Parts: sequence; structure tokens; C-alpha cells
Amino acid sequence: MGRVSSACFISWMYLVYISSGFATTIEPASEFTTFNNIMENATEWMTDFSDIESKFSFRTSEEPEDDLCYIVPGQPETIKECNFNPDTKTFIVIHGWTVTGMFESWVPKLVTALYDREPTANVIVVDWLSRAQQHYPTSAAFTKLVGRDVAKFVNWLQAEIDYPWEKLHLLGYSLGAHVAGIAGLLTKHKVNRITGMDPAGPSFEYADAQSTLSPDDALFVDVLHTNTRGSPDRSIGIQRPVGHIDIYPNGGTFQPGCDLQNTVLMVATSGLRNMDQIVKCSHERSIHLFIDSLLNQEQESMAYHCSSKDSFNKGMCLSCRKNRCNKVGYGVNKIRTRRSSKMYMKTRDVMPYKVFHYQVKVHFFGKTKLSYTDQPMKISLYGIHGEKENIPYIMPALNTNTTMSFLLTTDTDIGELLMVKLLWEKDTLISWPWWNPDTFHIRKLRIKSGERQSKIVFSAKEDEFSYLSRGGEAAVFVKEKETQSSRKNQRLHKLKMHGSSFKQSTE
Ligand SMILES: *[C@@H]1O[C@H](CO)[C@@H](O)[C@H](O)[C@H]1NC(C)=O
Ligand SMILES: *[C@@H]1O[C@H](CO)[C@@H](O)[C@H](O)[C@H]1NC(C)=O
Repeated sequence: MGRVSSACFISWMYLVYISSGFATTIEPASEFTTFNNIMENATEWMTDFSDIESKFSFRTSEEPEDDLCYIVPGQPETIKECNFNPDTKTFIVIHGWTVTGMFESWVPKLVTALYDREPTANVIVVDWLSRAQQHYPTSAAFTKLVGRDVAKFVNWLQAEIDYPWEKLHLLGYSLGAHVAGIAGLLTKHKVNRITGMDPAGPSFEYADAQSTLSPDDALFVDVLHTNTRGSPDRSIGIQRPVGHIDIYPNGGTFQPGCDLQNTVLMVATSGLRNMDQIVKCSHERSIHLFIDSLLNQEQESMAYHCSSKDSFNKGMCLSCRKNRCNKVGYGVNKIRTRRSSKMYMKTRDVMPYKVFHYQVKVHFFGKTKLSYTDQPMKISLYGIHGEKENIPYIMPALNTNTTMSFLLTTDTDIGELLMVKLLWEKDTLISWPWWNPDTFHIRKLRIKSGERQSKIVFSAKEDEFSYLSRGGEAAVFVKEKETQSSRKNQRLHKLKMHGSSFKQSTE
């Protein structure tokens, strides 16, 4: 008897332990077990449409804001009624957590942009607003059930009209990105693509791949991370990569134009209705970057593979060799690597977001040993198509006889560079005497363009050296007549003309 009751006690303890485990991973226990059953038997649950709570609104380009026609799983006539086009692509848009319980203003914008790019496509908006309006952890846990709803819908639609899997593209924002991932995991075949727009971080950062968006959920998974500021457990957007390609615009932490000053101004001009924009600005930027890629095809942003944000900010990662760079958003090249590729880019603060990236490398010679930190510089770039003057840059370190590499961007294409000016600004707080002797000698300046994939060497305009002094005149550099690339071409030319005879002579 005593043995039995102690066994009972142990199993009771075990239960407490398990359920406390559930509590921390925010899984309502019943939902979790249902989900595991789903995973075990992939056919039975799929044809049961009675428990689907999500709605599938077929939106049109004429009325992108309105739910005029729902496609209902199990009711094949609704496919025709909504004028679903079986011969074209289908985009399934999935929203995230909501405070208001209404569709946010980005939904019709994304629908419009998708139709602008693919006029004959089908755009379906998933409505899971009632489950998305709960206390956040509850809504986060609901992503599994909503993902299952979407998988059922997709499986049914596919089977009903023999719709090609490769025409399916799911797009999810915030919690919706994880919904898309779970849906992709549960469909009979892999869908072509899932785009995750700043997938939600809280309760997902440390979750397993089955509970979050992951590269296994579609043939190709691309992700934009735009609001990953703070420690991993506090970040609004998930920090770790969850796709084949994970792009971190502006480092992924926080987006330009989203600072308090800007958003307060926006609220002042457009009213308190947009108050929530202050909170969501960076998070939602992921969607607007994707919309930008749909609408501004001729101004496609580029992102570059890099080991870290810091290396990218030093301009070290602007290479396009071996798929190290890619187009951002809709036109991405679907490169699948085993490990997910972290990519970086800078953007403007408004659409079109594209900027042009440059790596500047400069060696500071000097007779005396000088050492500075955080020096204000102004750099002017002059190109064939225009110029960009006085780009501010704070040089983190400035030391004698060292080489600095840094990243500069321009928001317009100024074409191939011809001339560069470098100005070392005077410290505004301290007034330096006119005879300030702090001067560096610069012989050459090397600039690599990410967008053009060119490397150009600039040399001092007047002399062997240009002089950079604090608060002094700008140091001026002009393009060298013979650039590295033309020297390389000469070598190549030589090889082409004499290569075979060279080979013969060595044999
Ligand atoms: C899954 O469901 C099918 C159809 O109901 C059934 O035949 C099969 O035995 C089930 N498989 C498992 C592992 O439960
Ligand atoms: C820097 O290098 C140059 C030549 O490379 C040398 O003449 C000069 O003394 C060096 N300066 C210092 C501070 O070491």
C-alpha cells in the first residue's frame, strides 16, 4: 500500500513537473497534445474541416481592403465563386498579433503591391484576428492551431484543383511568420516559398524548429529581421536566423526614421490614430521593405553576406562572389545553403529604401604618433552621374600608420567614382589653435562599390601625399588612370594571347 501511494506521489510530482514545463513554454497542454497527434498522423486530421477557425479572404486588386469573398475548405464551389485563378501564383498573407482586433493598415498595402507586381495572381489574406487578439502568450500558442488551419486549407485547395505546390508563396508577419512555418511543416508537400517578415521573438527565440519558422518549412525561406533590439528574450523580432537567407537591414535592430523624434512628428501630423506606429515602426518596416521590392523593381536593394554586423559596418562584406550578395525581397535569388546565411544592408528612411554601399580604405601615415577616437569626418564622393557631398562619418579610431576601413552609403546612384574629398572636422567643443600640427599624410584611398562590384584606387591629387589636418582643408583624391581592374584585364589579356605558348614551353 505504502509502495503504491509513493508511486502515486512520484507520478503526481512528475505531472506537476511536466505541467510547470508547459507553463514556461506557454503551451496550453491540450493544444500541445493535439498538435503532437497531428504530427504523428498526417492524413486523418487533414480532412476534418469542422474545427477550422481561421478564414481565408480572397482579396482583389480593385478592393484590397475588403473581405468580399471567402474560400472555405470543404466547399469547392467557393473556389470558383471567388474567381480563384488556378493557372497563376498564389500569395497567402498571414497577419500577427493585434491589439485592436482589426486588420492593420499594411494588409491592403501589401495586397495592392502583390497585385501590382503579379496582376493575375491570387492574394488570400488569412483572418485569425480573434485568436490574435488575446494576451500575447495565448496568441503565440495559437500559432500552432492557426498553422494547422492554413495547412488544411492549402492541402484541400491543392487536392481540389490539382494546384501546383511550386506556385504557393506564404508571407507571414510577426506571429504570422511562425504560423506560415507551422503551416509549411504540415502541408503534404513543401510549398515553394515562405517569406518571414520580422518573425516574432518572445516565446520563439529559444523554441524548437517545429514551433517556429525554419528552413525546413518550404523549398525556400527568406526572412527580414528589422526589430531585434535588446536582449534575446526581450527582442520583438526573433534574433536568430530561421530561414535559408536571413537579412538584417541596418543591423536588424532598429530602423532609420523610427526614432522617437520622427514618430512624434508623424503622430503630430497624422493624429493619434497612428500612435501605435511608434511602437511598431521598426517591426513593420520588414513589410514595407518587401512592398518596396515589389513596387520599385528598378531600385532593387542588395544585401551582403557577412559574419557580423560590425564587419559589415566596416565595409568588409561587399563582395558578390560565390553568392555572397543577393537581391532583397521578392526578386531574391533562391540560394539554399545548409546553414542559413546572415546578410546585411543599409537602407534609407523612406521608400524606395535602396542605398549604394561603398567600402573606403585609407592608410594614415604620420611622422609623429597620433591617436584619436570618434573623430568627425565629412566625405564627398563625385561620380559620373552626380555627387554626394559631406557625408558625415564618425571615425571610431584614428591612429598613425594604421589602415582604416569603413562603410559609406549614398541614397542615389552617382555612377562610377572620379574624385573623393576627405575632411576632418574641428572638434566643436574645443577651439584648436590655427597652428594645430595634427596632420596625417594619405597617399591612396581605395573604394569598393557593392552595387557596381568595382574597386577603384584614388591617389592624392596634387602630390605624392594629401594632407589631412584637423579643422583644415579637405584632402582631395582623384581616380588613378590605371585601376587594379584594368591591370587585371591586362594580365588576363596577356594570358589569353600567350598562355598557350607558355604552356607548351613548360611541357
Ligand atoms: C493514420 O490515419 C489513417 C487514416 O485514418 C490510418 O489508416 C492510419 O493507421 C493512421 N496511422 C497512425 C500511425 O495512426
Ligand atoms: C610611420 O611610417 C613611416 C614610414 O612607413 C615612418 O617614417 C614613420 O616614422 C612612422 N611613424 C611612426 C609614428 O611610427
